[in-house]
Amino acid sequence: MKKGEIKKICCIGAGYVGTPTMSIFAYYCPHVDIVVVDINKSRIEAWNSTEPIDFPIFEPGLENIILSCRNKNLFFTTDIEKSISEADMIFISVNTPTKKRGIGAGKASDLKWVEASARQIAEYARGYTIVVEKSTLPVRTAKTIEKILFDSQNKENNKKNKTFSVLSNPEFLAEGSAVDDLQNPDRVLIGGNDEFAIEALSNLYKNWVANEKIIRTNIWSSELSKLTANAFLAQRISSINSISAICEATGADIKQVANAVGLDSRIGQEFLRAGPGFGGSCFQKDILNLIYLCNFYKLYDVANYWEGVIEINNWQKSRIPRIIVNNLFGNISGKKIGILGFAFKANTNDTRESPSINICKDLLEEGANLSIYDPKVEHFKIEEDLGIRKKDLNNNDYYGNYQICKSILDVALGSDALVILTEWEEFSDILWEELILKMRKPAWIFDTRICIDFNRAKEAGFNIWQIGKIQNKNDI
Ligand code: NAD
Ligand code: UDX
Repeated sequence: MKKGEIKKICCIGAGYVGTPTMSIFAYYCPHVDIVVVDINKSRIEAWNSTEPIDFPIFEPGLENIILSCRNKNLFFTTDIEKSISEADMIFISVNTPTKKRGIGAGKASDLKWVEASARQIAEYARGYTIVVEKSTLPVRTAKTIEKILFDSQNKENNKKNKTFSVLSNPEFLAEGSAVDDLQNPDRVLIGGNDEFAIEALSNLYKNWVANEKIIRTNIWSSELSKLTANAFLAQRISSINSISAICEATGADIKQVANAVGLDSRIGQEFLRAGPGFGGSCFQKDILNLIYLCNFYKLYDVANYWEGVIEINNWQKSRIPRIIVNNLFGNISGKKIGILGFAFKANTNDTRESPSINICKDLLEEGANLSIYDPKVEHFKIEEDLGIRKKDLNNNDYYGNYQICKSILDVALGSDALVILTEWEEFSDILWEELILKMRKPAWIFDTRICIDFNRAKEAGFNIWQIGKIQNKNDI
């Protein structure tokens, strides 16, 4: 490899981060061949699908980018050995969920997939290879990766003459806006101390990102910055959600408060939307990881501080079913409740840690019959997340039942209430005057995203509860 020149990239992990990131690299670096590998055969088959195209992840704008590069300089394969052995640079973009069992269960990240990737690289790489941490990792994980790689480098029988450099290059994209986030990042962060490797990676980014936006730090700062950025963003959501409850109690309006507060340029307008609690695969996991780290270093007060962000989030998720039950005369057993939106936010089919999961489970626990609609989430995913086999429910008097619907109209038929849990665009222009005709009266809307046409719904005759708003103007 010539100085700073990368010809072949391999990315381990074809998920929500690996595929969009590598697609953008392929799009802006036509001179580089990029191979995305995964152990999940059906995921790779789906990324290779043609007629019909059936990509496993919905992300606005991604399909066109992939189709313009696929099988030219962007490839999807399960042939991990070959892809690693040919690569000059390897991104590790595998999942790092919270550990379910053992030491650190419920807090620490499970690094078994990262370790497996490092071992695969150690075994198959040839010559000089730059290894880039793309996954979000606990601080000092690079040490573990280096240890695995350098042990193989130092083996006496290192016939393939392998040497490695390890960099941290965390990804800041958000789902639903990943393509735009990748094309116009606020910053690109590269942590490491090998100047040659840092230059090689920044040269790739420079094909579409201005040099001033490419920040270089030491590797531990880079790893910690990623956890910190997510912790700060989640903290803002818990802050605004805590204020939403005060608004409901006092007659203040959360939209007005968020706007007034956000106009202070030191605070800013972003991430001040009250809602049903943050979801997604990152925020909770990364804060838990930070808490684990704090406890490890005996920083118990700092750990407690961040625990609070998660506690408020859990509280926000749990108070919504209670509000629904209270408004429906204290009883929802046997009542039909429509759920609009199951994804953790709009413009994604991802349901990981979606607040909809807990809210639906609580409503089922109260005996409600749910009809659920989401424009992008696959039906099997909802069934997997709710984890309740419909056939078992018939024998259980205390549990509600659920069905998955193909339209908003199906959800509304015979319902007592509609609960909006994801801010999908199509929910903002529902013809409420038509929908109410299909529902039982009094008909309710519980809008946890403040995304409906309030006046239209009010005129149609609905009772409406919205998060962070006073419900009865006479109470003010
Ligand atoms: P994901 O589960 O969608 O994808 C990970 C993929 O890695 C899976 O398809 C899995 O099969 C594959 N994999 C696991 N071990 C492998 C191995 N040894 N060899 C080959 N493939 C393997 O996860 P994701 O959402 O893409 O997240 C990946 C990482 O990026 C996580 O650390 C996450 O915290 C971080 N991150 C995620 C987001 C996001 O919005 N999802 C944003 C920024 C950072
Ligand atoms: C997040 C970070 O934004 C991103 O930088 C990081 O790389 C990965 O984690 P993501 O989880 O995909 O991205 O989506 P995000 O837009 O951050 O939303 C997370 C959750 O917070 C969603 O449930 C969303 O509905 C909620 N949210 C977001 C709010 O409730 N209010 C807001 O103002 C913003």
